[in-house]
Amino acid sequence: MPLSRFISSTREIPPAGAMPRHIAIVMDGNGRWARKRFLPRIAGHKRGVDTVRAMVKRCIALGVEHLTLFAFSSENWRRPPDEVAFLMKLFLQVLSDTASRLHRNNVRLRIIGDLSRFDDQLVKAVREAEALTAGNTALTLSIAANYGGRWDILNAVNRMVEAHPEKRGRFTEDDLAPYLALADAPEPDLFIRTGGEERVSNFLLWQMAYTEFYFTDKLWPDFDDAALDEAIRSFQQRERRFGRTSQQLVEDNNKHPDSAEHA
Ligand code: IPE
Ligand code: IPE
Ligand code: MG
Repeated sequence: MPLSRFISSTREIPPAGAMPRHIAIVMDGNGRWARKRFLPRIAGHKRGVDTVRAMVKRCIALGVEHLTLFAFSSENWRRPPDEVAFLMKLFLQVLSDTASRLHRNNVRLRIIGDLSRFDDQLVKAVREAEALTAGNTALTLSIAANYGGRWDILNAVNRMVEAHPEKRGRFTEDDLAPYLALADAPEPDLFIRTGGEERVSNFLLWQMAYTEFYFTDKLWPDFDDAALDEAIRSFQQRERRFGRTSQQLVEDNNKHPDSAEHA
């Protein structure tokens, strides 16, 4: 990807109040949702898939361009082996069931994360779904699987150094950018975490330098269109300063009333 196409929201400041172009979500609370109903934790993961479907639809309707969902972290391998095995099976099943539906809805699907730990059948299904939907334009849906923000940064550094041995350590942010996951997307405008915990859990560490954070106690299977709309409303009331002062923002809007209107 040419560097000129790299859009950093810390450099290209988006208009205030606009619809977020990129929403990143930590889908948390499936296990607690199930426990509250005296069901096994895996029942919560199954219901969580319904919420994913609903959110994809809603994001398309709202004109959000990128939706990035944290499905399985590099730390989730620490869970009991049967829960991990169930999640892998569910992932494969959902992938094969929904790839064609996503394609019909003009959604581009891709998986970010270290796929080397997944079995061959799953990796093949991932690659096929990615290839099938590669040209779609309504929404880019990125699923983070065996993803960790630190892995992402280190992986990008290693690939960058390998590609440019001649630079001998004198690298810039722009040199690194194309090697990070989601390099072709604007950085997330809005981060949502369901389930009540207020932490990042090693999600997009580099990419969320200036993302607006939104936490809700709602458990992921209970998260719905109204809850997403509420998160977006909260986002639209924030003042994104990117290091500037409030006063500068006001002056800027007066100078460029068109961009304020656009927002
Ligand atoms: C999030 O729900 C889904 C995954 C991490 C796969 P959890 O499984 O973490 O649900 P809680 O936090 O235990 O309720
Ligand atoms: C974070 O959820 C990862 C995903 C949602 C996939 P966890 O529920 O595993 O996060 P921690 O470990 O409680 O922070
Ligand atoms: Mg959790």
